[in-house]
Amino acid sequence: MNAPLEKNANHAATAPAYFSVYDMHAYYGESYIVQGVSFNIHEGEILALLGRNGAGKTSTLRAISRVDSPMVTQGEIWLDHQPLHTMASYQASIAGVGLVPEDRRIIQGLTVEENILLAQIAPPLGWSLDRLYDLFPRLRERRKQEGTTLSGGEQQMLAIARALARDVKLLLLDEPYEGLAPVIVQEIAKTLGLIREQGITTVIVEQNAVAALKLADRAVILDTGTVVYDGSAEEVLNDDKLRAEYLAI
Ligand SMILES: Nc1ncnc2c1ncn2[C@@H]1O[C@H](COP(=O)(O)OP(=O)(O)O)[C@@H](O)[C@H]1O
Ligand SMILES: [Mg+2]
Repeated sequence: MNAPLEKNANHAATAPAYFSVYDMHAYYGESYIVQGVSFNIHEGEILALLGRNGAGKTSTLRAISRVDSPMVTQGEIWLDHQPLHTMASYQASIAGVGLVPEDRRIIQGLTVEENILLAQIAPPLGWSLDRLYDLFPRLRERRKQEGTTLSGGEQQMLAIARALARDVKLLLLDEPYEGLAPVIVQEIAKTLGLIREQGITTVIVEQNAVAALKLADRAVILDTGTVVYDGSAEEVLNDDKLRAEYLAI
C-alpha cells in the first residue's frame, strides 16, 4: 500500500506527506467521535490542532499514538512511510510517535533523571541526557529531585524531555500549557521552537489557541470530529470570525 498523496494544491501532487491522517473515523463503543478527519504535516513543521472542548482533539492524538485509542474503523495514518493505523501503541512508539498526554504521567517515586532513563530502557534511543539537559537547564538542576515534586511547568518540561529521550519523529502535545503561568508558557514555547530547529515534527493541541498559533506554522481546527479549517496559523490569528466561531476567543 502506498501513502496517500499530498492533497494540498500548494505542494507537489506526487509527494506523500511526511505525516498524514487520511479519512479517519473512530468510535468509543457506540459513540462516533472522529468523523472523517484528514490532514497532512510536513517534516519539521509545528501544527496547532485546535477546537472547542469535546471537538475530538485528544481522541485524534490517541488514535495517532494508539495509546488509550478509540477504535479506528476507517482511515489511514502514515508517518514517514510507516502505517501507524496497523500498529499497537508500542509499535507506534518504536515508529517514532511520542505522545505527551495532558496529565503528563510523571512516575511517582522516581527522580527526574530516572523518569528520563526509564524511557530509554528499550531502543530506539533518542536524545542523550546531556543534550536534554542542555535544552532544559532546569531539569539538570533538579535531576536528583523526585519528578512529581516539580512545579507544573517543570513537570511539563520533564514530560517533553522523556518523549525526546526516545527516537521521536512526531511529537504530540496535549494541552502542554494547561495551568501554567504566562512566563512559563513563553519558556516552553521557546523550547518547542528549538526542538523544531532540530527537525522534529510537532502537533500541539491547546485551549490557549493564541499561544499555540503564535508558535505554529499551520493550524487545523476540529469541530464535532470533523476538520473545519486547514491552513496557515497566522490566518487564524488574524481572522476574528473564524476564532469566534470555532475557538470562542
Ligand atoms: N474514553 C471515552 N469514552 C467515551 N467517550 C469519550 C471518551 N473519551 C472522550 N470521549 C468523548 O469524545 C468526545 C471528544 O473528546 P476529546 O477527544 O477528549 O475532545 P477534546 O480533546 O477536543 O476536548 C467528547 O464528546 C468526549 O465526551
Ligand atoms: Mg482534550
